[in-house]
Amino acid sequence: MLEDLARLGEQAMQKLEQVAELDELDNWRQQFTGKKGALTMLLRGIGKLPRELRPEAGQVANEIRQSLDEAYEIASARIRQAALANNLASGAIDVHLPGRPQSVGHVHLLNRTLREVYDIFGRMGFQVFRSREVEDDETNFQMLNIPPHHPARDMWSTFYMTNPRVLLRTHTSPGQIHAMREYNPEPFRVILPGKTYRYEQVTMRSEQTFTQVEGLAIGHNITMADLKGVLENFARQLFGQERKMRFRASYFPFTEPGAEADIDCMLCNGKGCPVCKYTGWLEILGSGMVHPVVLRNGGYDPDEYSGFAFGMGIERICMLKNGITDIRYFFSGDVRFLQQF
Ligand code: DAH
Repeated sequence: MLEDLARLGEQAMQKLEQVAELDELDNWRQQFTGKKGALTMLLRGIGKLPRELRPEAGQVANEIRQSLDEAYEIASARIRQAALANNLASGAIDVHLPGRPQSVGHVHLLNRTLREVYDIFGRMGFQVFRSREVEDDETNFQMLNIPPHHPARDMWSTFYMTNPRVLLRTHTSPGQIHAMREYNPEPFRVILPGKTYRYEQVTMRSEQTFTQVEGLAIGHNITMADLKGVLENFARQLFGQERKMRFRASYFPFTEPGAEADIDCMLCNGKGCPVCKYTGWLEILGSGMVHPVVLRNGGYDPDEYSGFAFGMGIERICMLKNGITDIRYFFSGDVRFLQQF
C-alpha cells in the first residue's frame, strides 16, 4: 500500500510538470485527485487494511494529497501566467486601449431650466424665497381670497392630509403670504420656486407633482405696466428676443385685475400648428395685480402699497422650449430621455 501511494505520488508529480494547458490541468485533476481519481481510490482502500497498518497509510496518503493539491495550485498559476504573457506578446490584449469611460450624469433638464429662470429674474433684482410644500388650508386658500366652499376652489383639486386643514400646496401662491409677512413693511421682489401637488388624472399634459415658479413684487406705485415689462423681458430672454407677448384678461381670486400671458408660438412663428392648436399663441403663465385683500393679509396697507404677481409651470415652459410632448418623461427616470439634454 505504502509503495503504491509513493509511486502514484511520483507519477502524478511528473505528469503535472508536463501540463501546459488549462484543460490538460483539468484532466490531470480528474485522473489523480478528483472524486474518481487514482489517489481517492487508493485512500478508500485504507479501510480494508489490517488495523495496525491503517494509521501510517492514512498519514502518508494525506501528505501526498496535500503536496499534490499545492502542486496543482502552483501549476494552475503558472499556466494562467503563461497564457496572459502569450496574449500580450501576440497583441491579443492591447494594453494601450483606453478604459471604458464611466458616465458621470448631469444636471436634470428641469433643474437647468429652473436655474435659467433664477438667472433671468436675478438680473431683474428678484431674490429666491423658499416656502413649505405642506401647507394649511388657510394659507393655501383663505389668505389668498378663496374662502371654504367657494366655487373657485374647483380650480385646484387638492391632496388633503388626514387632518383636512393640512394639505399639499396646490400652487406656490401661498408663498406670497409667507414672503409678505417676512419682508413687511419693506418693498421687495421675490420668486418662489418649488414643487406643487394636485389630485388629478395623470396625462401627457398634467402630473400630480409638478414645479412652479411664483413671482411677487410689492412696493409703492407698482402698476400693471411693471408686470408687463418684467414678464416680456423674461419671455424674450428665455424663448428668444423675437418673441411677442400678449396678455388676456383672466380671473384668479388673489389678483385684481388678473391676466394670462401668451407668447407667439415659436414652432410655427404664430402661423398656427398642432402645438399651439392653430391659434398661433402659447399660454405660459397666470398673473395680475395683487388683490387688496391679499395685500392686507400679508400685512401691507393696500392704500399705500401695490404689487404684481405671477405663477408659471416649469415643466410646461421646459416642454415648449425643448419640444417635449409628454410631461411624464420628467420624473420617469428613463435615462434615454435624460441623456438627450
Ligand atoms: N396660482 C395660480 C395657479 O396655480 C397661478 C397664478 C396666477 C399665480 C396668477 C399668480 C397669479 O401669482 O397672480 O393656477
